Amino acid sequence: MSASAAGAPGTDLRALVERARSASADAATVESLRQLESELLGKQGELARAQRSLGALAPDERRAAGLEIQEARRAVEALVAGRRAVLADAERAVRVESERLDLTEVLDAPTRGHVHIVQRTRDQLEDVFVGMGFAVAEGPEVETDWYNFEALNMPIAHPARGMWDTFYLELGDPETVVLRTHTSPVQIRLMQQQPPPVYAVMPGRCYRRDTPDARHIPIFHQIEGLVVDRGISFADLAGTIETFTTAYFGPDIHARLRPAYFPFTEPSAEYEITCTICKGAGCRTCSQTGWVELGGAGMVDPAVFAAVGLDPEEWTGFAFGFGIDRCAQMRHEIPDMRVLLENDVRVLRQL
Ligand code: DAH
Repeated sequence: MSASAAGAPGTDLRALVERARSASADAATVESLRQLESELLGKQGELARAQRSLGALAPDERRAAGLEIQEARRAVEALVAGRRAVLADAERAVRVESERLDLTEVLDAPTRGHVHIVQRTRDQLEDVFVGMGFAVAEGPEVETDWYNFEALNMPIAHPARGMWDTFYLELGDPETVVLRTHTSPVQIRLMQQQPPPVYAVMPGRCYRRDTPDARHIPIFHQIEGLVVDRGISFADLAGTIETFTTAYFGPDIHARLRPAYFPFTEPSAEYEITCTICKGAGCRTCSQTGWVELGGAGMVDPAVFAAVGLDPEEWTGFAFGFGIDRCAQMRHEIPDMRVLLENDVRVLRQL
């Protein structure tokens, strides 16, 4: 069927489509294609003119010619769209290439990265406790007041809460959601999740409104320990801590437990080791005492068992919580803990 023969007067539609094919293939930019498109398909274009001339035809001729014009229009539209996709792809590729940023840092002596000292310490502590038969568990860093304080035997407004400078979140009722101040709430979650016996350590990040100094940073890490079983005594706690200290710090570092107070343990103790910086002589890091506190420990308070529905007559247990950053600091003899957060590559490279 010949396009012009059907009667769109004065227009060779087939030739028009062929012209459109070569012209669109020749169009080098999206912009020149746009011009071509309006010449071919716009109101002043040849197709539009052919369309207008249909009125002069007899009704049956008009119908056939109209269909042919429509067919030609579709063909031209498809050619333009196909070419536009090709050109747009190419233009995008050029733009992306020109906007590319090379963020590679070229170092004089290429070095491979390594795991941060705090993460490595956490892994090593886990290994020591796994070797002693403990499981590893985790809990959330954002906690409710109930898990962080209440279930640990610190009712609302209890003065012991003052031991932790807490970050509260603006979520729910005022002062009901906190960035956890310690890993102790994971004890509660664990006892809710599984029946005793429990032998587990729970490492993770904690937050306190502490002013940074040589031994304190406001974002730090703890490893919590919990044992719940029948007939557990303070001697089990002391033996576990002793075994851990020797395994992690070596035989030259001594541990001592000093009476202390924590609401969730009774009796409670502070766990200290010989300051590794001055070997006990006294220095800035240990505030001239020769000892550095690594954490707290004690026998699980019956009120904590009651909070999770365990019978304190049947179950006994001990718990502890050590600072992981503190362990890293002592084992690697880092005088000032703040370097752990500063990420100075000259320091990181040494650790
Ligand atoms: N949660 C305490 C703190 O951050 C440390 C601690 C003390 C944990 C005694 C314990 C414990 O599990 O028994 O200061």
